[in-house]
Amino acid sequence: MKKEMLSITDQRTGKTYEIPIQNDTINAMDLRQIKVHDHDFGIMSYDPAYKNTASCKSRVTFIDGAKGILQYRGYPIEQVAENLNFLQTAYLVINGELPDEREYDNWHWEITHHTMLHENVKKFMEGFRYDAHPMGMLVSTVAALSTFYPDAKNIEDKESRQLQIYRLIGKMPTIAAFAYRHSMGLPYVYPDNDLSYAGNFLNMLFKMAELKYKPDPILEKAMDVLFILHVDHEQNCSTSSMRSVGSSHADPFSSTAAAAAALYGPLHGGANEQVLRMLREIGSKAKVPEYIKRVKKGEMLLMGFGHRVYKNYDPRARIIKNIADQVFEVTGRNELLDIALELERIALEDDYFVNRKLYPNVDFYSGIIYQAMGFPVELYPVLFAIGRTAGWLAQWQEMLLDPEQKIARPRQIYLGERDRNIVSEPRKSETAETIS
Ligand code: CMC
Repeated sequence: MKKEMLSITDQRTGKTYEIPIQNDTINAMDLRQIKVHDHDFGIMSYDPAYKNTASCKSRVTFIDGAKGILQYRGYPIEQVAENLNFLQTAYLVINGELPDEREYDNWHWEITHHTMLHENVKKFMEGFRYDAHPMGMLVSTVAALSTFYPDAKNIEDKESRQLQIYRLIGKMPTIAAFAYRHSMGLPYVYPDNDLSYAGNFLNMLFKMAELKYKPDPILEKAMDVLFILHVDHEQNCSTSSMRSVGSSHADPFSSTAAAAAALYGPLHGGANEQVLRMLREIGSKAKVPEYIKRVKKGEMLLMGFGHRVYKNYDPRARIIKNIADQVFEVTGRNELLDIALELERIALEDDYFVNRKLYPNVDFYSGIIYQAMGFPVELYPVLFAIGRTAGWLAQWQEMLLDPEQKIARPRQIYLGERDRNIVSEPRKSETAETIS
């Protein structure tokens, strides 16, 4: 096959460079040969939010934003959500293939038997203030796990990596549930190994005085699908943080805590909470046209709309919208859904949104379901983190095994002062002189 090349002419020198193109990408290091003088550093590329920079080669998740396609290891998200459970999805994303029966039984057994937290971790969590945000508790507790499992430092050991993967996927719902119970002033509920991954999570959140908690099968299924939809979304802010921190060979608990911290921000894992606040502010279906007018005037954003990558309907939003109907059959209809449906209907017909390719994203409907299921808004990013842990671990392991990867270390364009000297006499304080 003919090698594809990019010709670049440097107008400063008149010299032309032939740069190889691979996968529609040029290697940034190839730019460094472009210099005016031999001793120059060479050209760099400037890309502050990595808008057009691939930081890795990956085989985990494929997104075609223009067509609204999302695939985990090549399987369309619609098929994954329809046919797999969360643990099968996590196995697929981490290992690259679907498990056979024996592999799945072992995977399921190992994760189920790593759901318990050390009693000292429980005590650690009890130390938080009564009103601590559950996401802050999750981030800190996951980081604290690294002190309980110092063996996790052996990141080059395959078996050790596998053990930490079981531990992290197993313990994440337990930490999340303990954080919720803590904020409610309720006693912590220990894991129940008879229940499914999602069913046990609901048990640890909502069990009260009954001897055995029985999750509603529709809500259990909805929870499982919501975990699946959040498993991975390629190189987003939290996943890049996981890779970046992991690239220094920090243990996976510390790296996962860093990823969860990145997810905590309202521009990433917190948008679904904003959607809920927006729908409450609108208040009724009749007030939707007025709200849309204000959005078009630039007074505010339509939360849950638009995406950096998707310029089409987010496929996850379509799946969530379908689950919403099933959830509301159990919980009763949430009046916010009517406002959301009206917003979507008007926006999808309006030139402002059509021309800018603004469609509902994953966060548009998820908050309404979470609210109907009884979760407080502070828990929404925590729910996101449970599902995303599988994706973070898949990307972390891929990064460690990739011979082209090294410690993440971007360059900068330095624009500050240079070559200054410290004078021996200390500078007089202007404020002090003014006062005297
Ligand atoms: N409502 C109204 N106008 C919008 C919206 C919106 N939600 N999103 C983008 N626009 C407009 C924007 O003002 C701009 O208009 P103009 O060309 O006239 O200046 C145009 O659309 C292009 O927007 P952009 O800001 O260049 O797009 P971006 O790729 O930088 O931002 C985004 C993507 C998701 C941050 C943005 O669409 C947004 O803020 N949406 C609302 C928040 C939200 O729902 N976030 C969840 C993202 S999905 C989950 C996750 O990633 O964690």
